[in-house]
Order: sequence, then structure tokens, then C-alpha cells
Amino acid sequence: MAHARITGVGSYLPETILSNEDLEAMVETSHEWIVTRTGIRERRLAHPDEATSDLAAEAARRALADASITPGDLDLIVVGTSSPDKIFPSTACLVAAKIGARCPALDAMAACTSFVYALHHATSAIESGRAARVLVVGADALTRHVDFTDRATCVLFGDGAGAFVVEAGDEPGVLGIDLGADGTRADVLEIPACGSAMPASEEVLANRLQFIKMNGQEVFKFAVRVIPESVRRALAASGMTTEDLDWLVPHQANQRILDTVADRLGVAHERVFSNIATTGNTSAASIPLAVDALYTGRNLHPGSVVALVGFGAGLTWGSVIVRWTKEAR
Ligand code: ACO
Repeated sequence: MAHARITGVGSYLPETILSNEDLEAMVETSHEWIVTRTGIRERRLAHPDEATSDLAAEAARRALADASITPGDLDLIVVGTSSPDKIFPSTACLVAAKIGARCPALDAMAACTSFVYALHHATSAIESGRAARVLVVGADALTRHVDFTDRATCVLFGDGAGAFVVEAGDEPGVLGIDLGADGTRADVLEIPACGSAMPASEEVLANRLQFIKMNGQEVFKFAVRVIPESVRRALAASGMTTEDLDWLVPHQANQRILDTVADRLGVAHERVFSNIATTGNTSAASIPLAVDALYTGRNLHPGSVVALVGFGAGLTWGSVIVRWTKEAR
């Protein structure tokens, strides 16, 4: 069986910064409340001319350059996103056009777990022998779906993209995977309207149902329970324990969630990657953005073991254990 290994990493953050002070001018909130409750100080906003596929294409170009391959070498593109440019065509098709690839392309939609689901698709395609080079992107412009009059959600989200090139090889790079979904809890975090269940209408707009609605406390309780369980299952599938981990890279949703799961897993806080202060919650982009920051910071070396873990609407969750095989940049 071929093994899947990560051979390229890239990421992209839009230029415009939205600070907590900026938000103080928009809703009744304070920098102190946001930092204390979430750890977030600022986040990035996509330019009005930038859609999710633009963020994704830039991260993809950087990952392809890092892997020293061309778009024509790709067998498959999987884009994890829950803020597609359009309902169809898929964002992956738009990314393929923007980078100049003609291979099969599809989206994986599992909210903030989308990148982990996309990485699972890529790994399965490689291990089955159906693909040798796959581009996996996590990209979201969720601020386009945020109600900037709702202080409970508008302080959390930011835009961005990250990408991996995953290639077949003799050495295993992607080890154990754990994925799950509990659709009975779909109403905990959703965008109620503008899909087939509730098409756009004047009533939808009047009730602001085109925007993210979230029961924050329920998501918090779910996250701090499911992350440790899922990481332990993925480690067990890899024949490992938390002792083997060099880094834990959770989806960046709230610093208090990161701190709680570190304690529950018994992983030292300095081994839990966090860049939430400057990115906010970038949804599907947060894990590859984090891995690119770790790699660029020369914190990943051949043999490093990293647990990537996502959770989000669905409710969905997923963990992937990665053995790093690339030399530091
Ligand atoms: N500024 C000031 N006050 C606020 C703000 C704000 N931005 N937002 C809420 N409050 C108030 C509330 O109104 C409430 O006031 P009250 O006590 O007078 O009623 C008080 O602060 C406490 O509100 P809580 O909701 O209990 O605050 P909590 O400590 O739970 O923090 C938060 C809220 C940050 C949203 C937290 O619950 C959280 O991070 N949840 C997880 C969210 C998450 O991880 N989402 C990821 C999934 S994303 C995806 O899948 C797309």
C-alpha cells in the first residue's frame, strides 16, 4: 500500500486587519471581554474583491511551490470550506481554474472540520492507489456570513486559507485518522437560510437568517469533550499515546478551549499551537495556517509527530496524526 506524506505547505491571510478596537465601534463589546473570553486580538478580512477561491488559490500556489511540483502534476484537488464562492460550481473547480489545473476537483464541507475531512479524502485516494499527488486546501471567508450586529459571533471569525500537497511515498506521513459527525445537533451552529430548506427571501433578510447562528456554550462543551476523545482514538490507531506528541494543533476557535483540552489530554500548554490572537477563528483554514506557521518557524523536523484536530458545525469532529517528513525550510 502506498503511504501519504505531506510534501508542501502554504498559507495566505488577507491584508486587512479588523482589531478588537474596530469591533468596539460596531457593537457593544470591549477589547478586554474579547481577549479574556476568546484570546482573540485581531483577525483578517478578505478584500471585497476576494472570494474564498482567491484565498485558496494563493495558499495552493505557495504549497505547490514548496513541494516543487506544478498544477499539471496534480491528480486531485479537495477544498475544505463552508463559505464556497457559490453553491455551484464547487470552490475546488474555481481554484483549479485559478491555478491552472485540470484534474478532478471537489469540495469537502464539514464546517470547521472541513480541512481534516479533506485530508482524509486525500489520504484515502493515495492509499488506494487512485491518486499520487493531491492538493488539499482549507479556506474560508466566514466573515461574509457573520452578522456584524451580533456581538456573540462577530468577534470570533476571520478569513484565510492554508494548503498541503500530499504525495504517495514509501514512508508513512499520515498515520491514524478519527472522524465523526452527529447530525442530530445540527441546530447548535448553523446558517439557517439561503439553502434549499429556506431560500433567500425578504423575510429571511428581515430576520437576518442568512447569518451564522451559534449556541456558543453548547459548542464549547462539545469541543472540550470531543477533542480529547478524538485525539486519543487517532493516537491509538497510530500505536501512540500523548507522550509521543511533539505538537497538538487544534482548530483555533477559542484560547480557553485550547487550554482546557491541553489539561484534559495532559499535554504541556507550550506544545499546543496557538495563533488565535492574530487570526481569530478562520474555520477550515485554521489547521493548515497553524501548520505552516509551525513549519516556517522551524518547529517541525523529520520525525516530529503532530496531532491535527478539528471540530465544528454538524456537529463534526476529526483528528489526524502526522509524522513530519520534510526538512525544515
Ligand atoms: N462582548 C461583550 N459581551 C458579550 C459578547 C461580546 N462580544 N458576547 C457575549 N457577551 C455577553 C453575553 O451577552 C452574556 O451576557 P449576560 O450574562 O448579561 O447574558 C455574557 O457575555 C456571557 O455570555 P456567554 O455566551 O455565556 O459567554 P461565554 O463565556 O460562553 O463566551 C463564546 C462566548 C466566546 C462564544 C464561547 O462560548 C465560545 O467560544 N464558544 C465556542 C465557539 C466555537 O468554538 N465555535 C467554533 C465553531 S465554528 C464553526 O464550526 C463554523
